[in-house]
Amino acid sequence: MNSVAGESNGSAANRAERRWAGVSIALIVGLLAIITFTGVHWASMPPSGIEAIDPTTLHVSGEFVEQNLGAQMRPDGSVIVRLIAQQYSFNPQCVVVPARTKITFRGTSVDVVHGFLVTGTNANAMLVPGYITTFTTEFSSVGDHLMPCHEFCGTGHAGMWAHVRVVAPQDFERLIGGATGVHCD
Ligand code: CUA
Repeated sequence: MNSVAGESNGSAANRAERRWAGVSIALIVGLLAIITFTGVHWASMPPSGIEAIDPTTLHVSGEFVEQNLGAQMRPDGSVIVRLIAQQYSFNPQCVVVPARTKITFRGTSVDVVHGFLVTGTNANAMLVPGYITTFTTEFSSVGDHLMPCHEFCGTGHAGMWAHVRVVAPQDFERLIGGATGVHCD
C-alpha cells in the first residue's frame, strides 16, 4: 500500500518537474530568440542619420570652430544654430534666434554626455561626445528661454545652463547681417 502510494507520488513529482523544466527551457529559448532577433535587426538596419565627429579637434577645424558657433542664416531664410557643450557651460552661452522661423540646432559635446533642453518648447535632446545632435524646431513668440543641461554631467552640472533669446525676425536680420556665428551675451 505504502509503496504504491509512494510510486504514484513519485511519478506526479516527475511529471511536475518535467513540466517546469519545459517552462524554463521555453523561457531560455524565448530570450535567446529575442537577443538573436534584436542583434540581427540592429546590425542589418542601423539607425539612420548618425553623424560622427572627433571631439578632440572641435575647436581646431570643421563645423564647430569658434567663429561658427551661434546662429547663421541660410539662403532659404531658415536659421542654423551650432553649439558646443562642455563641463560646465555651453558655447555660446546666449543663443539668439528669430521667432516664427525654422531653426535647426546642431550640437555636440567636448567631454561627456550633456543635456540640451529649451524650457517651454519641445526642444529636448542629448549632446553626446563623438556625435552631432540635430534638432529642428520653431519658436512661435518673442521671449527668453532658459537652456539648462538636464543630464547629470559632474559636480558643476547644476550650474550649467544658457539662454535662448527669441527676437522678432526683422530684429534678427538686422543683428545678423550675413555673419556666420551670431549670439547674444
Ligand atoms: Cu552638462 Cu549637466
